[in-house]
Amino acid sequence: MSIENIDSILHEERLFQPSAEFVKSASINSLENLKDLHEQAEQDYEGFWAKLGHDEISWQTPFSNVLDDSRAPHYQWFSDGKTNVSYNCLDRHLESRDNNNAIIFEGENGDIKTLTYHELYSQVCCFANAMKARGIGKGDRVVIYMPMTPEAVVAMQACARIGAIHSVVFGGFSAESLKDRIEDAGAKMLITADGGHRGGKIIELKQAADKALAGGCASIETVIVFKRTGHDVGFNPDKDIWWHDAIKDMDNNCEPEWVEAEHPLFLLYTSGSTGKPKGIQHSTAGYLLGAILTMKWVFDIKDDDIYWCTADVGWITGHTYVAYGPLAVGSTVLIYEGAPTIPDCGRFWDICERHKVSIFYTAPTAIRALMKQGDEFPAKYDLSSIRLLGTVGEPINPEAWIWYHKIIGGERCPIVDTWWQTETGAHMIAPIPGAVATKPGSCTLPLPGIMADVVDEAGNSITEANKGGFLVIKKPWPFMLRTIWGDDERYINTYWPMFDGKYYLAGDSARRDSDGYFWIMGRIDDVLNVSGHRLGTMEIESALVAHPRVAEAAVVGRPDEIKGEAIFAYVVLKGDRPEDGIDKKLTKELRTWVSEQIGPIAKPDDIRYADNLPKTRSGKIMRRLLRTIAQGHEITQDTSTLENESILQQLQGKR
Ligand code: PRX
Repeated sequence: MSIENIDSILHEERLFQPSAEFVKSASINSLENLKDLHEQAEQDYEGFWAKLGHDEISWQTPFSNVLDDSRAPHYQWFSDGKTNVSYNCLDRHLESRDNNNAIIFEGENGDIKTLTYHELYSQVCCFANAMKARGIGKGDRVVIYMPMTPEAVVAMQACARIGAIHSVVFGGFSAESLKDRIEDAGAKMLITADGGHRGGKIIELKQAADKALAGGCASIETVIVFKRTGHDVGFNPDKDIWWHDAIKDMDNNCEPEWVEAEHPLFLLYTSGSTGKPKGIQHSTAGYLLGAILTMKWVFDIKDDDIYWCTADVGWITGHTYVAYGPLAVGSTVLIYEGAPTIPDCGRFWDICERHKVSIFYTAPTAIRALMKQGDEFPAKYDLSSIRLLGTVGEPINPEAWIWYHKIIGGERCPIVDTWWQTETGAHMIAPIPGAVATKPGSCTLPLPGIMADVVDEAGNSITEANKGGFLVIKKPWPFMLRTIWGDDERYINTYWPMFDGKYYLAGDSARRDSDGYFWIMGRIDDVLNVSGHRLGTMEIESALVAHPRVAEAAVVGRPDEIKGEAIFAYVVLKGDRPEDGIDKKLTKELRTWVSEQIGPIAKPDDIRYADNLPKTRSGKIMRRLLRTIAQGHEITQDTSTLENESILQQLQGKR
């Protein structure tokens, strides 16, 4: 990996202080308080985390080991303690919050449902008993392929309750992707639904699940099907059971399974630069601590907040900031099933007004898409209940930040731009809203106890302002991933390949400005960020070459106004290149093909046909060149090492 191309181009100087009103009620309300926390972590790193671990988590058996690095980089935290995540999210609130809303749900079709803590507890217990009745126990893997409904959270919490390891697969992934994930995890149970509502359409979840199972997935013994849409779906009586039948006669109490702190809570598959998606494995206690702390530190959560994170439970954001974090701190989480554009582009703001949302957390891509629709949509709604805004998933461009600040936040709400990853489990670099002034486009400063740094190839800290380098974390933290499921070696090679394996390599480049603020500059590997979601270029290339007419493919990202990055594919066909490089029918077919292989999010936006790809004499594809062409820029790089320089004209669409 090299950082020769990391140039810093963004220079944003505006500074936004938190309002006096916000500071008044904030739990960390000054830089001094924040500095105190940082100092505690620096002076006694383990003591700092041990205290938080004891204070924030309800333990069945308290821990005495804090950090065990004997198997580094497979670090262990609080390893001799025992607890249960579902107990921490539900049982411990029953006395004080029994009747408070845990979940407010709104379906795309307008259904509204609320679940108090007591009701959610009963549903989780009931469903946990139903899973147990079908032979699921501690350590078994359960794949969840559900629409964004409270039942998805019930299923996740029920797994946690009995010590089963869930692996949620985003409902937008195809049957093929579902199958790969089920097989890699060796899952015994699949929990799905007949379908879900999104974008005015029905997402055919059961149909995809049936297709996945028809193609393999021998480990699956039971499929529990939640009835959401009520439309006709296939039903295999040997394996399938309706959710409502499975919970019939089940007890609505279920003793939590007390598991070791390091017991895997879940796997979540994410894309890397090589091979198939990897099953990121998270722990029980360390992960829970990250979710709780960041709800308090970054979202400054209060008892009366109505908190809405728009992420789907299929992504890490939907795990930490929908299914676990908000419940672990006893707050009220809003879940919305559908798209922001149904019935029109005011839906998010309508929901905020009607449910009096006070904390709103979404992705820059959604902000940009809604900003494009104009100010008249948000102007129709009363957004005065909102007190804090957040963003996640990709850098936010200053224009979108300012719009979010002015039009949605009424210039009174801090914006927390949160940098983190599937692997980090929870926020890592983000402003503490009552203490840290924000700058549009910067995720500001690392959280207390998070030893983030920007380093050069030798691992030396880059102290020069605005000079780009590798983003690393220099010490293990409790909510970090533990390994890649079934592939310890890939874990070591992916995250600890440099700096003598001492620093966690995030895979992002970053710079720090003269105030020490972090600015994320992009990925250093072949991973794209499309609408805040990670996609490996290799994955899309493999899908393309699996098509009978494709001989070779190379995929790169091209900047896109709404999605952040769009997918640009160069394709070499078996046989002749289409005349003038255009074949609309085949292009459509290939796009559908990729959608079936991976999911609609991986559909290439552009496909360009060529007789060959630009390769060095050693046969390496020159991706940098392909990126330049995809951006429509002139090639200024040295192309003398190219085996086939003449191909450039064609790749540029010139002939
Ligand atoms: O490149 C960074 C970008 O998203 C990557 C992590 O993707 P994923 O694991 O899918 O998790 C997304 C939700 C946490 C990072 O390596 N990223 C995430 N948040 C930000 C970001 N880039 C800039 N600013 C952010 N706030």
